[in-house]
Order: sequence, then C-alpha cells, then structure tokens
Amino acid sequence: MKPNLPPLLIIDDEKNMRLSLEAVMVDEGYKVVTLESAEQGLKALEAEDFFMVITDARLGGMSGYEFLEKVRQRWPRMPILLITAYATPRLAVEAIKAGAIDYLAKPFEPEELLHAVARCAERHQLIEENITLKTRGSEVYQLDQIIGECGKMRDLKRLIQTVAPTDATVLILGESGTGKELVAGALHSLSARKSANYVRINCAAIPEALLESELFGHEKGSFTGALKQKLGRVEEAGGGTIFLDEIGDMSRPLQAKLLRFLEDGTFTRVGGNEELQVNVRLIAATNRDIIDAIRQNHFREDLFHRLNVVQFRPPPLRERDQDIVLLAEHFLAQFTRSMNKTIQRLTQGAIAKLKSHHWPGNVRELRNVIERAVILENSPEIRPESLPDFQLEARLRKSGDVSIAASETLDDYLSNYEREVILATLEQHHYSLTKTADQLKISRHALRYRMQRLNIGGGSGFDDESTAPSAREN
Ligand SMILES: Nc1ncnc2c1ncn2[C@@H]1O[C@H](COP(=O)(O)OP(=O)(O)OP(=O)(O)O)[C@@H](O)[C@H]1O
Ligand SMILES: [Mg+2]
Repeated sequence: MKPNLPPLLIIDDEKNMRLSLEAVMVDEGYKVVTLESAEQGLKALEAEDFFMVITDARLGGMSGYEFLEKVRQRWPRMPILLITAYATPRLAVEAIKAGAIDYLAKPFEPEELLHAVARCAERHQLIEENITLKTRGSEVYQLDQIIGECGKMRDLKRLIQTVAPTDATVLILGESGTGKELVAGALHSLSARKSANYVRINCAAIPEALLESELFGHEKGSFTGALKQKLGRVEEAGGGTIFLDEIGDMSRPLQAKLLRFLEDGTFTRVGGNEELQVNVRLIAATNRDIIDAIRQNHFREDLFHRLNVVQFRPPPLRERDQDIVLLAEHFLAQFTRSMNKTIQRLTQGAIAKLKSHHWPGNVRELRNVIERAVILENSPEIRPESLPDFQLEARLRKSGDVSIAASETLDDYLSNYEREVILATLEQHHYSLTKTADQLKISRHALRYRMQRLNIGGGSGFDDESTAPSAREN
C-alpha cells in the first residue's frame, strides 16, 4: 500500500485494457479508480484528489488529447500519462506539447508503465512534503531574532517568555512594521506546542467570502466552487498555534463564529452540521486602532475582550532610540553577508541621519533602507549619501496636503511648489544639474530656465558637470 498517496485515475474505453492496467497498479499497491470516458474523468477530478491520470489517446467522445488540454488548464500540475496505439515521433511530440508528462506506445511492458507511474508518485510526494515543510518550519520566528535592548523591548521579551508556555490567547497591537509577526512566532516557538503546526492566516489578504471556509473548512457542494471537502486551517493547526494576522479586517459575522470557537474550541465547516472540536492556541494581531474600530461598530467588543487576555504592544521605532543603531548594524551584517559585500560599518554621519528620522514604517522601513544602502554603497562603510533623503521625503509628503495661504494666488502656489520640488531634487543629487534634470524628466536646458525663473541659486554656483564632475557624487 502507498498510504499517503491519493488514488490514480485510469481512463480507457476498452474494458480489457482497463482491467489489466488496474491489476498491474493494484498489485503494486496503488489505489486506483477506473473510468470509461474523458467526460467522466473530468467530473472525477473535480470531486476527488488524484496523484496522476493514465488515459488512452483514443477514446469514444472526447479524445485523450482534448482531455489533456482541459486538465492542463484546470489542474496544471496534474501529471498525465498518455497511452497511444502507434508511437510515431509526431504523436509523441503532440502528446508532450499538449501537456502529457510521458507517453507509452502499445504494446508496452508492465515495467515501463510502473516506472513512469513511480516517477509521478515520487514527484507528488516531494511537492506535498515541501508544502508541509513550508507551513511548519520556515516562517516561525524565534525569540533571539527579536533585536532590541531598550527598556520597552526588554520588557516585551520578558513578557513573551512568561506568556509563551501558557495557553493564553494573545492580542498583538502595534503600528505597521513593528515586529508583530516576530512576537507571534516567538510565542509559538517557546511554547510546548512548538513541534505542532504554526498556521498563519492573513485575514486582510483573503477575500471575505472565502475566509470562513479557509479558517473552518467546508463540506463538498456547500457553495459554488466547493468541489471537494476541505479541512479548515484550524484543523491543520490542531495541537499547535493559529495566528490570525490583521484581525481588524475580519467581517462581523465571522467575528461571531470566531468568538464561539474561542469559547470552547468548537466549530462547524461551511455547509456542514457536524460540530467539530480542536485544541488550538490563538494569537491575533492588527495594526489598526482597534478601540476606534469597536467604537465604529466594525469590531465586536466581546471578541476584543476574549482575545485581549494578554496584550503585546511592540513599540514604534521612533520610541526606541538606542535600538535604531543596533537594528541597522544587524541588518547591515545580514545584507552584506547575503550580497557578499564587505561593508564594515555605518559612518557617524549615517548614524546621525538614521537617528533623526521619524520612521513611519518602523523596523520594516529601516530594513529596506539598509538593504538599499548595501546595494548602492561601494565604499567599505555606509555613508549618509547612500541613505535616502528623509527630509526630501518628509517635505514631499507635507506638500501633499494642499492648503493655500489666504494671500496666495494659484500661480504663486504652483511656483512655490515647483521651487520646493526642484530644490529638494537638487539637494538629493548634490546639486548635479544633469542628475536632477534626469530625475525630473526635463532637459538640462529646461531645468536652468526654470531655476532662473524661480530664482534658484541665481543661475550660478552649480557644477557644470560637463567640465567639473563633482567629487561629492562618487
Ligand atoms: N525587533 C526586531 N528585530 C529584528 N527584526 C525585526 C524586528 N521588528 C521587526 N523586524 C523585521 O521588520 C519586518 C517587519 O516586521 P513584521 O512583519 O513582524 O511587522 P508587523 O508588525 O507584522 O507589520 P504589519 O502590521 O505591517 O504586518 C520584518 O522583516 C521583521 O523581520
Ligand atoms: Mg504583520
């Protein structure tokens, strides 16, 4: 027997052929379903899982080739072995082109058949293992991956160690990029559930109509598109932890079902009647203002209290002054390693620049900034020039909210705005006219003209790169 392998589907309109194929496969321990036509085959594929299909090329009704094409469209990864009466090179090419993984010409030896099927079985197993590995291991963060020595982060890590071994439900609140996912992962990996599954669902990324079935599963036929029974992710997380990320985006009806699940671990699949139960620890997170969501009636207050048994609040980066350098050095080491570069340190100027920034995107933003700097930097240290112009960005953000002064005309306003943009871009490119003009997608001549008109730099004091390339730019 091949215990973990779904059955193999055999389609042939000749009864004797069906029977002998089935006999060979069953002898070898495969589970087999045999059918007479391609039409029946398609229906079966919709209803059940198979690891591969063996089909005759010539069938009454839809031909094996047509069938191949249909399967290729709907189930692109399903391996199909085509059996043809006469193998000509042309036929072989057609079969492979149409998407068959392999073909056999009649008559063939049972060994040839078994060999081809074994390859498909192996492939299937590999893919499955890979999927499980992915959901199990790779994304589960450990406590030591949380970098931070400031008081708030020390407290946070201490609280993780205290709460992780319990089964308490946890709610993680915090701005985007503060490390909520890290906290969730560390809670799982420090718990007694660590060898069981850790399942993460991003409630904002899954369409509302599908989220319930994703979470709790569905019975076959419960809605259009529910072709097979599907287990819920809560079942997959049985004995382990489920992390509901972006829970603030969950619809109110589903919030009610989740509340019931939290009370006693029971649930029913979509379209099912049977009450099921699993033992799962729940962690939820959101970057939304949850209190405001409750006030606006978007989030159930009772669910909030049920989730909020222990609350974590990873602090925004701007409140973690000393950690900025620590994190920057951490990411620097990480990216120089992965990009095979030899950048040793951040210059004092770079550190000052990092510290002066407000970090609206928190640690994620810092990580991106350092990654970009490592790509750009050619010297052995990160200099301020390799960091983005935070002031420019802030200024452009600010000028995004249009408010026109009482005395100002539209022309004044537009000129001022144009001056701001040109000045900021000049600054960003260390007053190189060529680069500034490039970025603004105008000619150098046009840039000079506008600078004169806006009275920027009085038309002098700028490097003419054609004769004097600025040393600061390298
Ligand atoms: N304390 C930390 N130490 C090391 N890396 C961190 C830390 N905090 C965050 N990161 C890194 O920053 C990035 C963003 O973290 P994470 O995905 O956990 O943020 P989040 O709070 O879930 O944000 P969002 O609300 O946008 O989902 C990740 O690459 C993560 O590894
Ligand atoms: Mg997140």
